[in-house]
Amino acid sequence: MQEMASLVTEWLGRAGRNMPWRNTRDPYQIWLAEVILQQTRIETGVAYLERFLQRFPSLEALAGAPQDEVLKAWEGLGYYSRARNLHAAAAQLLSEFGGKFPSSVSDLLRLKGVGPYTARAIASFAFEDEVAVLDGNVMRVVSRLLGSAAPIDLPATRQEFQARLDAWVKGHDSRAFNHGMMDIGATICTPTMPGCLVCPLESLCVARAEGLAHLLPVKGKKLSRKLRFFDFYLLYSSDGLLIRQRSAQGLWGGLWEVPNEERETESAAPGKLPEARFLGTGKHVFTHFDMAYRVWAAPVDKIPEWTGAEFHSWEKIPTFAFPRAVLNMFDLYLAPLATASAQEPS
Ligand code: ADE
Repeated sequence: MQEMASLVTEWLGRAGRNMPWRNTRDPYQIWLAEVILQQTRIETGVAYLERFLQRFPSLEALAGAPQDEVLKAWEGLGYYSRARNLHAAAAQLLSEFGGKFPSSVSDLLRLKGVGPYTARAIASFAFEDEVAVLDGNVMRVVSRLLGSAAPIDLPATRQEFQARLDAWVKGHDSRAFNHGMMDIGATICTPTMPGCLVCPLESLCVARAEGLAHLLPVKGKKLSRKLRFFDFYLLYSSDGLLIRQRSAQGLWGGLWEVPNEERETESAAPGKLPEARFLGTGKHVFTHFDMAYRVWAAPVDKIPEWTGAEFHSWEKIPTFAFPRAVLNMFDLYLAPLATASAQEPS
């Protein structure tokens, strides 16, 4: 596999994708880009990154901002612990590293929320360290290249692939190698229809030679996902909508929400406020479970039992950071109103 890395870097120069953060070596921008892109499509990620950099143009700006502002900039991206970790790591970089990003993987791993993928991405893309990055797409490429039936969700497989990649990248431009591998995974070596005919690694690929590309990679056991049922209530008065901030840790930590409760079964009646108006249903996917929710609305004249909740005027509501699911609930409430006003004679 001696020429493997050269084939990848040469292909990147010819056919790789151009992405805004690939033109910088600023570790701050690279860090933000990589964390944002871990949970969103490229197009969405680019828009978030631009907005994030406008709001927090430097490490100092990010570290000095209130957490609520960081969460607001992250609103809709999900995995809010990542935004809280970014904020904490910015403070850590100022206090422990004199405001400069360390360049070694081992030091980068000391930063809050920075795992092997992000540490290696920063070390390679900002500091040209000869280390390889291994994301889900690259995992698939390596699995096929080696013709390996090792389940890719096992830590041992990840370790083995990481070691192989690190050996391949030695003596090469790691930025070009890593971006090339990511692009091959994202655009050619796709899950269901690998484009072997245009792949720069075709001549070396064991899966291609054995006609197995479409059968790899192999996954081990499937996680069984739990479905949980919730009711959410949009409760309003002349003072506005009733909302509260969740505690800093855990699911949707630090974000704002509306009153809600979990129920035992899908068909159970809503426990509180049986007179509330039904607005609709929705589903939200978390890492460890799926949430199926119903949404209800009702006018209330005093704050119901709901610790820490306050009424806020509708004009102020957009200034708080809400999870995507709650924003969707607002849409359920507002859509009929928008339709009604559009139909009003002028
Ligand atoms: N996804 C996450 N990081 C990326 C990168 N640097 N290039 C392309 N896609 C990515």
